[in-house]
Amino acid sequence: MTSRALIFGASGQVGSALRQIAPSSMTVVAHDLDETDIRDRSAVDRAIADAQPELIINCAAFTNVDGAESRADEAMEANGIAPGIIADAAQRARVRFFHLSTDYVFDGCAHTPYRTDAVVGPLSVYGATKLEGERRVLAASPDSVVVRTAWVHSGGGANFVRTAVRFLAAGKPMRVVDDQVGTPTRALHLADVIEMAHREGPHGAAGELPEAAYVPDYAALTRPSARSKLLTGAAIAAGVAVGYAASRRSRRQP
Ligand SMILES: NC(=O)c1ccc[n+]([C@@H]2O[C@H](COP(=O)([O-])OP(=O)(O)OC[C@H]3O[C@@H](n4cnc5c(N)ncnc54)[C@H](OP(=O)(O)O)[C@@H]3O)[C@@H](O)[C@H]2O)c1
Repeated sequence: MTSRALIFGASGQVGSALRQIAPSSMTVVAHDLDETDIRDRSAVDRAIADAQPELIINCAAFTNVDGAESRADEAMEANGIAPGIIADAAQRARVRFFHLSTDYVFDGCAHTPYRTDAVVGPLSVYGATKLEGERRVLAASPDSVVVRTAWVHSGGGANFVRTAVRFLAAGKPMRVVDDQVGTPTRALHLADVIEMAHREGPHGAAGELPEAAYVPDYAALTRPSARSKLLTGAAIAAGVAVGYAASRRSRRQP
C-alpha cells in the first residue's frame, strides 16, 4: 500500500532525515519555509489540498532556543500558534498529524527519564512556546501524536555533535557547560520511530500510541561524557559526525 506524507519544515535536521528514510511505498511532499509558512493558515490549507496526504508531519519550528528569549513573539507564532493551525487543518481534512516537540517543556529537575505524563514546567521562552504548540495541537486534533525529542544531531544543520567534531578536527579545545544532562538523538533514528509509529499505530504491533512519545537515543549523558563518546566514535569514523551514534536504536518510553 502506498501512502503520501506532507512534511513541513522539510529542510531542517529532522525533516531531512524523514525524507531520507521514507520507504519506497511512501510519497513524500516536502515543504520548507519557501513553500509553506506554517503561520499562514491559507498556505497550510492549500498545501494539504494540493498534496492530499494521509499523514502530515510538522518539523518546522523556531529552534533558536537562546534567540527566543528576545524574540518571544516570533517564537510563539511559529512554535505556539502555527502547530494549532496545522492541527486544525489536519482535523478538517481527516489526516493523521505528527508534531515534533521538545524536552524543554519540562523544568529539568527530574533525576529519572521523563514519562510522557510527567508534569510540565518550561523554564525558557522556547519551552513555553513549544508547550503552547503541544496544547493547541491536541486541542484541535486529539488523535494527533506529539513527539518530544532532545539533542537532535545529524550530518547537517547546527548541532552539538557537529560543533564538537569541528573543534576536534581543528585541534582546538572546546569549552562546554557541565551542568546539563540530555539524551542525544540521531535524527535518522527519530525519523525511523515516527515512520514506524505511523505504519504500526495506533492499533499495530507497537500498541496504542500515547499522546506524546518520548524519543531519546541514549540514556542520559552529560555534555562532557557525550563529548568523550564522540571522541571515540570520531576516531573510528575518521571524523564522520554521525559515526558515533550507531550503538543504540531509538526507543519509545511509556
Ligand atoms: N534540534 C534539536 O536538538 C531538537 C531537540 C528537541 C526538539 N526539537 C524539535 O524538533 C523539530 C525539528 O527540529 P530540527 O532540529 O529539524 O530544526 P531545524 O533544523 O532548525 O529545522 C526547522 C525548519 O523549520 C523551518 N521553519 C522555521 N520557521 C518556519 C515557518 N514559519 N514555516 C515553515 N518552516 C519554518 C526552518 O527553515 P529556515 O531554516 O529557513 O528558518 C527549518 O528548515 C522542532 O519542532 C524542534 O523544536 C529539536
